Amino acid sequence: MVNQPIGFLDSGVGGLTVVKEAMRQLPHEDIVFIGDQARLPYGPRPAEQVQEFTWQMTNFLLQKNIKMLVFACNTATAEALSVIKPHLSIPVVGVILPGTRAAIKATHNNHIGVISTEGTYKSQAYVQAIHERNPDLEVTSMAAPKFVPLVESNQFDTPLAKKVVEETLAPFKKTNIDTLILGCTHYPLLRPLIQDFLGDSVELIDSGAEAVSEVSVLLDYFDLTNANNTHQGSRKFYTTAAPEMFDLIATQWLGLTDLRAQEVNISEEK
Ligand code: DGL
Repeated sequence: MVNQPIGFLDSGVGGLTVVKEAMRQLPHEDIVFIGDQARLPYGPRPAEQVQEFTWQMTNFLLQKNIKMLVFACNTATAEALSVIKPHLSIPVVGVILPGTRAAIKATHNNHIGVISTEGTYKSQAYVQAIHERNPDLEVTSMAAPKFVPLVESNQFDTPLAKKVVEETLAPFKKTNIDTLILGCTHYPLLRPLIQDFLGDSVELIDSGAEAVSEVSVLLDYFDLTNANNTHQGSRKFYTTAAPEMFDLIATQWLGLTDLRAQEVNISEEK
């Protein structure tokens, strides 16, 4: 089983921020990724639909014989993980608890900010997870629905993105948060703009990157680590939309040459 790939799913290119970390932290592991770009954004969709689409991505990845599944999507983690996980016989990792743990560790003044999609915001998944661990922490949570389209259209380092980041995050300037959870896996692509606007006194938490550290721990725990250090992990990418934009962003973000995602239809998956 150690030679089987790890599966990653997201609504789109955001999950690549998690894959990038996996390539860095676990270079010997094979990776299979699917992004459901034909139906993104997931953020504004009803929870039942996010569950249905996430099941379809899950079943697609299970056919690739994965040894572990990573929900590289906060919205799917918030709305579908607890529904899907009990049905699977392989370990399933989401991004919300790893991000929560890292933020609790990072804050010094006990005030944490969270930005996410509308779905994750409405689910209150971060607020609940933080308060379950420490009810004394103050949490200021906000949806940032304009961020995902900027990233998916490859405009994440433009003057428009700067303007949107500044307008969206302005309310945080009136708070004293010292830690901000990037509660959507698309947001690390906007990280330089976010950090610039909020200043160095605010520590940004990349939930996806934190999740990969947990993947690493769980691979060891379940004796699933590919310990062959001469093996260069393979990477396969699938998208449900035309792959050109995916290839452009992924090549740039992951620093891979010759990256070609394959377009697939998963809407028939049960
Ligand atoms: N990248 C996803 C997340 O982490 C979802 C973006 C979307 O489709 O709205 O929440």
